[in-house]
Amino acid sequence: MNDKKFNAAITAVGMYVPDEVLDNKYFESILDTSDEWIVTRTGIKERRKLSNGATSDLATEAALDLIKTHNIDPKEIDVVIVATVTPDMFFPSTACLVMHNIGAVNAWGFDSSAACSGFLFGLQTATSLVESGRYKKVLLIGADKMTAISDYTDRNTCILFGDAGAAVLLEPAADTNTGIMDTVLHCDGSGANHLNMKGGGSLNPSSYETVDKKWHYIYQDGKAVFKVAVVGMANVAAEIMERNNLTADDVKYLVPHQANLRIIDATAQRMGIGREKVTINIHKYGNTTAATIPLCLCEYYREGKIVKGDKLVLAAFGAGYTWGAAYIRWSI
Ligand code: COA
Repeated sequence: MNDKKFNAAITAVGMYVPDEVLDNKYFESILDTSDEWIVTRTGIKERRKLSNGATSDLATEAALDLIKTHNIDPKEIDVVIVATVTPDMFFPSTACLVMHNIGAVNAWGFDSSAACSGFLFGLQTATSLVESGRYKKVLLIGADKMTAISDYTDRNTCILFGDAGAAVLLEPAADTNTGIMDTVLHCDGSGANHLNMKGGGSLNPSSYETVDKKWHYIYQDGKAVFKVAVVGMANVAAEIMERNNLTADDVKYLVPHQANLRIIDATAQRMGIGREKVTINIHKYGNTTAATIPLCLCEYYREGKIVKGDKLVLAAFGAGYTWGAAYIRWSI
């Protein structure tokens, strides 16, 4: 397929979730909803909230966790990519703030916007940078402070989201038999009306009107997104298995974006694998957008459930629409 000499591989992981927990009982106390409805329809029991601080703080803590755990010298980091839809500000990039916070003084970097597919889009970008031979250490962080754009009077959306950050380091692998083996990524802008945040951009600059209309919060047509997400994530997971001749037995884990347990189950079913081969932490954290997949990778790796050589299929679907999958052979 190509003549590359080595893959990029994940060589370090880190994560951060804030201490404050919002459980379903909390939402029962402020909205017309129930623990039973939320658990049955989404699989979420609780999520985390960062009351003081911003996405750069979530990303910085995740990066520092990675740096300390794996004994990385921040001065050796070449590039920092932050996948997020909740940057601290439009500019400068959250990546610049994180580089400053962690002492990555020799790095350059940028933010990447692909919503819930952000980590996978960032993964392909980071992989290409490493495979080019020009960069040896690329830090990819998925971080979102979703509570900052959640409307706590809208039961359709606010119960879904939480705050978190998680990071991976990509470095050259020894050969092409390990690391990031393949990715498949898709975009379809015709989905933009179903899942968005309308206010504050150049289309609808912030005004009293945009605030009155609640355009600085997440808007989602849940039913419409659910239908395409189920099909999109299941199809792309099947697509990456086919192109890499992977059977259900080959795959140690499906590592899916954590938006809804029913979407995750549909994807696993399409791949022909059971729940025991799916990484799940949606019950603890809800949908943390760009952070869900690296959070799963970090937790399952640290628990000893993901080990060197394991074949993993990552899959996500999000606003845009954006969706994709990655096939990884775990390297640490
Ligand atoms: N508590 C109680 N009832 C609720 C509720 C809540 N928190 N949220 C919605 N409802 C109600 C709705 O108002 C609706 O009532 P109605 O029939 O009287 O209008 C009913 O429950 C069913 O709503 P519906 O939207 O059909 O529920 P659903 O089964 O589709 O689940 C989502 C809603 C949001 C959980 C689901 O659509 C979903 O996960 N969508 C996709 C999310 C996603 O993947 N996004 C992409 C990545 S971010």
